[in-house]
Amino acid sequence: MSVTEANRKMFDEMAASYDIKPWQLKIGAQISTAFLSSIPWLDVAGLSVDSPDNDSPEHKVRLLDYACGTGAVSRALEPYVDVIRGIDLSSGMVEIFTRRFAEDRESAEKAGEVKRCKDIRAVVGDLFASPPELQLGEQEEHEGEFLNFDIVTVAGAYHHFEDVALATKRLVERLRPGGVLAVVDFLHGEGENEHAHHHHHHHGHGHEHQQNSGKEIDEQHKAMLPETVRKAINVFGFDENGMRALFEESGLTDFGFKVMEEKLRIEFDDKEMFRTWFLAKGRKPL
Ligand SMILES: C[S@@+](CC[C@H](N)C(=O)[O-])C[C@H]1O[C@@H](n2cnc3c(N)ncnc32)[C@H](O)[C@@H]1O
Repeated sequence: MSVTEANRKMFDEMAASYDIKPWQLKIGAQISTAFLSSIPWLDVAGLSVDSPDNDSPEHKVRLLDYACGTGAVSRALEPYVDVIRGIDLSSGMVEIFTRRFAEDRESAEKAGEVKRCKDIRAVVGDLFASPPELQLGEQEEHEGEFLNFDIVTVAGAYHHFEDVALATKRLVERLRPGGVLAVVDFLHGEGENEHAHHHHHHHGHGHEHQQNSGKEIDEQHKAMLPETVRKAINVFGFDENGMRALFEESGLTDFGFKVMEEKLRIEFDDKEMFRTWFLAKGRKPL
């Protein structure tokens, strides 16, 4: 089974509980905060923290939330953009994304709230297949509405991609000139191993501190995961230089890289690990 197929299977299985598990919710909230607090830093024309749900924006802002999952990034940025398109490999995830936004709309309408973003839709797709797959509905006569984005976000998915160079290239194709690609993922292990913490058997304070190379730590963390999850992961950590090279090879400029302060806590089968993570950005030249 390819990494892509392993992903589709795993996320279809995880979809129903994705927004229920406390650790997943916490990560969703951290990702959401990271994007919101980085709006000025991202520097996307028309994307501004001023006046959420401004109903008469000067610029229309189009967001592609790639590997959107249940929509953490879309929900965070929704008040500041005009059009959202989500794409995800897993139909289970797309269903939840669609249902949650429909519910949001309904309660906003009941409350008489005006929303800036009036056009939100997620579809099942894999832009890295050859040829790229996009399961467009009957309304979408052509693919044009999945092009010319002002911002393309990818949160927590680069480590699942089979070929990150191809992925970056395909995502950059979807940006308008001047548009920004923003990627959130795990930083390469940085010399401290703060895990091996078992809920049932506490030994001492439950933390091990070891000096190891980043790659070894990535591998150790990966080895702690259940097999189904391991099979769905390709590279379990990136670093600033690697991301910069990846972005520049795809023609992006204005590279930016921020390491987040609060680690992400991952939990599987009563094992937990803490991972440092980053937000990287690059701009498609005008
Ligand atoms: C850890 S989840 C993150 C979801 C969401 N971005 C968030 O921040 O909550 C990773 C997502 O990537 C999707 N994914 C993995 N490989 C993909 C691919 N090749 N194309 C599209 N989506 C993919 C999975 O289906 C899953 O929904």
